[in-house]
Amino acid sequence: DSMSRFPLIPVRGVPLMNHIANNWDSIWAFEPHPSDLLIATYPKAGTTWTQEIVDLLLHNGDQEVCSRAPTAVRMPFLEIFSPPPIPSGLDLLKVMPPPRVIKTHLPFQLVPQGFWKNKCKAIYVARNAKDNLVSYFHFDRMNQTQPEPGPWDSYIYKFMEGKLAWGSWYDHVKGYWEQREKNNILYLFYEDMKENPRREVERIMRYLDLSLPDEVISRILELTSFKAMKENPMANYTFIPMPVFDQTISPFMRKGEVGDWKNHFTPEQSQAFDEDYEQQMKGSSVPFRTHI
Ligand code: PPS
Repeated sequence: DSMSRFPLIPVRGVPLMNHIANNWDSIWAFEPHPSDLLIATYPKAGTTWTQEIVDLLLHNGDQEVCSRAPTAVRMPFLEIFSPPPIPSGLDLLKVMPPPRVIKTHLPFQLVPQGFWKNKCKAIYVARNAKDNLVSYFHFDRMNQTQPEPGPWDSYIYKFMEGKLAWGSWYDHVKGYWEQREKNNILYLFYEDMKENPRREVERIMRYLDLSLPDEVISRILELTSFKAMKENPMANYTFIPMPVFDQTISPFMRKGEVGDWKNHFTPEQSQAFDEDYEQQMKGSSVPFRTHI
């Protein structure tokens, strides 16, 4: 069946699903409007959460407007080219007038250059490596359009070696970090959003040149809580039906916590991961918290 388990093909050294690699020229040629906003992440770093916050900020916290369609229809996923029911990003963008909010998992060097030439705003969200890996593992179990995760132990090594779809987490987080000042990218951390969501929502609001009253911010915080989004059919990806997303295996809104890696890594796995992490992140100043 055509939906299942697309193979990965490298595009400039980055493993991408075959439907992305096969349509690479049209993705690379995409020309954004200067008013478009990019939300960029490594998969499972907090994309959907940030999208919901941004959509609500742009619509003055209006719940009804932000229930107009599922996340992936309201805010197209740039490079996705898989067959229905997942909507193709470029098809949606063709008929959607700017300003648009566009999602991507592409590493910085593969983002269509028009975003930077046109000085589009861009928000990057990074999540600590171990929790990001855990979340990706469970997603790969339930999402039939992602490569098979295989056993947990070998998954850790695939992550460390940059062999998962969209490539190396390490290169991803470093790539955007190095470009953030030059390209005016707002660089956020999932852990900061969990620690103080109001502070981070206000930071996004200022970046978008908006100024909303406190009670609207409070409303947005309620609507973007993990619990509210888990129950929101326009945010919880239940619009992608079985068996493509089998949320009985693992729900899209799974735990939404910091530190769940401790329930997955053995002490040996954690130590091996940490040693490799130190090597791969050497000389980088991305301010990840190491104590979690
Ligand atoms: S995707 O498929 O790449 O777009 O996935 P993404 O949205 O980046 O990541 C999914 C993880 O984010 C968690 N999530 C949230 N956490 C806290 N608060 C809110 N509101 C929220 N919404 C989504 C989601 O539960 C996934 O993390 P895990 O650790 O698997 O629960």
